[in-house]
Amino acid sequence: MADSFDLIVIGGGPGGYICAIRAAQLGMNVACVEKRDALGGTCLNVGCIPSKALLHSSELYAHIPALADMGIEMESLSLDLSAMMNHKDKTVGELTKGIEFLFKKNKVTPIAGTAKITAPGSVQVALSGGGEQTLSAGNIVIATGSEPASLPGIDIDEERIVSSTGALSLSEVPEQLLVVGGGVIGLELGSVWARLGAEVTVVEFLDHIVPGADSDIRKEFQRALKKQGIGFRLSTKVTGIENSGTSLKVTVEPAEGGAAEELPADIALIAIGRRPYTDGLGLEELGVATERGMIVTDSRYQTNVSGIYAIGDVIAGPMLAHKAEDEGVAVAELLAGQAGHVNYAAIPSVVYTAPEVAWVGKTEDELKAEDVQYRAGKASFAANARAKAAGETAGFVKILADAETDQILGVHMIGPDAGNMISEATLAMEFGGAAEDLARTCHAHPTLAETIKEAALAVAKRTLNS
Ligand code: FAD
Ligand code: NAI
Repeated sequence: MADSFDLIVIGGGPGGYICAIRAAQLGMNVACVEKRDALGGTCLNVGCIPSKALLHSSELYAHIPALADMGIEMESLSLDLSAMMNHKDKTVGELTKGIEFLFKKNKVTPIAGTAKITAPGSVQVALSGGGEQTLSAGNIVIATGSEPASLPGIDIDEERIVSSTGALSLSEVPEQLLVVGGGVIGLELGSVWARLGAEVTVVEFLDHIVPGADSDIRKEFQRALKKQGIGFRLSTKVTGIENSGTSLKVTVEPAEGGAAEELPADIALIAIGRRPYTDGLGLEELGVATERGMIVTDSRYQTNVSGIYAIGDVIAGPMLAHKAEDEGVAVAELLAGQAGHVNYAAIPSVVYTAPEVAWVGKTEDELKAEDVQYRAGKASFAANARAKAAGETAGFVKILADAETDQILGVHMIGPDAGNMISEATLAMEFGGAAEDLARTCHAHPTLAETIKEAALAVAKRTLNS
């Protein structure tokens, strides 16, 4: 096998594999080193994809009783959890194999093993099949991703005290699931298990869930999840978990301090954020600068060491697959002498629960803090004919536009299919669009997206259907 490349990418997740493909398309001879058994990183193996497979299946399962209102009745409904897990595993397997195909198609050399950078331009790989290989390249891109953060004194055994990885593969539905952290993972995976029958309680340190989302959306979202039976203990911290091997006793306290209390649970999911993963890369010996675990890069994704670049979860910014992918494309294009670029002001976020939550751009709180004059327009799915026909009328779209120029500054949605619909708002922002542009764009009727148009009309106080 050849040992000399133009570019070595370390990590085969969405950042790394997309970077490798784009660089190969631009004429570089590229190797991608991945230590997992399968390509695709966290996202395909233990993140985006398995969670979405379980969210989809569990949503269908939970939705069936509601179909009786539409005349669809089922005499009996049962859950085959192992079949649901097989569907998830099959989905993951097919997609990770798909990356092997894409590597072949684009002539990227995959190398199975754990990489360590021994010097700029030189990578030592402990091969998964045994032995070592030394690779050299003009440039190295680090795309080693992230790992779950843990709580001091709490041992994640992935059986009873689990991270998202364990929570994606439970062998039975827990009676009581305690979720530590009311962020994206806690609410997505909490929803999965609540729909399948678990009693779910979310313990959140802050006084609100999903930090980062608009506060209007957060309130509506928590109400919707409460209605589905998910319990919340906000402004609360977990101080310890006693694991008897068959059950857990979770000690919680008010976040500000105060009397401790014990909560019983079968399973505890620790979902308090993720931290960049750089173990064993040799960064300290090389003198690569990091800040709170994150690799520091300049606007061209270069670290302080010439020829070493970094992208994705291992650098600053939202830990999202599409952000990692776009950075992968940008760094490949920059290395090829092109003008690679990521517009960080227009990166959408989605929580794939029911209702879905999606947003792009600034929240109202951020605009207020920055003293930006804005106008807000809001339209609710209750007035949308398609939502009504589907029986999914909860939620709304809110558009924030500059008071003077009408340029769209942020779009926030909670409701059916919000995750798909946020693309329209993202595109409008990418083009520097105004609320009026959305309002004057012809939207097919009857579609959920008409609520975006209605919210844009609401910015100018001239709604037509609400
Ligand atoms: P990763 O995907 O983490 O890939 C890094 C790869 O590098 C890993 O495969 C690792 O094995 C490998 N590696 C590390 N060190 C070495 C080494 N020394 N040598 C060789 N290989 C190495 N994001 C979304 O946008 N949408 C979602 O719906 C979504 N859902 C998620 C659900 C869950 C449960 C989790 C945990 C995350 C989710 N994310 C989601 C986040 C998303 O998975 C990450 O943002 C994304 O995977 C980051 O991509 P990356 O390429 O930077 O890193
Ligand atoms: P998160 O940052 O979204 O949420 C963590 C939550 O835990 C926060 O609300 C925080 O206040 C709380 N918390 C922190 N310490 C705590 C403590 N000691 N006790 C109680 N609460 C505590 O992180 P999460 O959910 O772990 O997800 C990690 C990353 O994965 C996110 O950055 C997200 O971007 C990504 N992800 C994205 C998804 C998507 O795009 N749909 C799905 C799942 C994950």
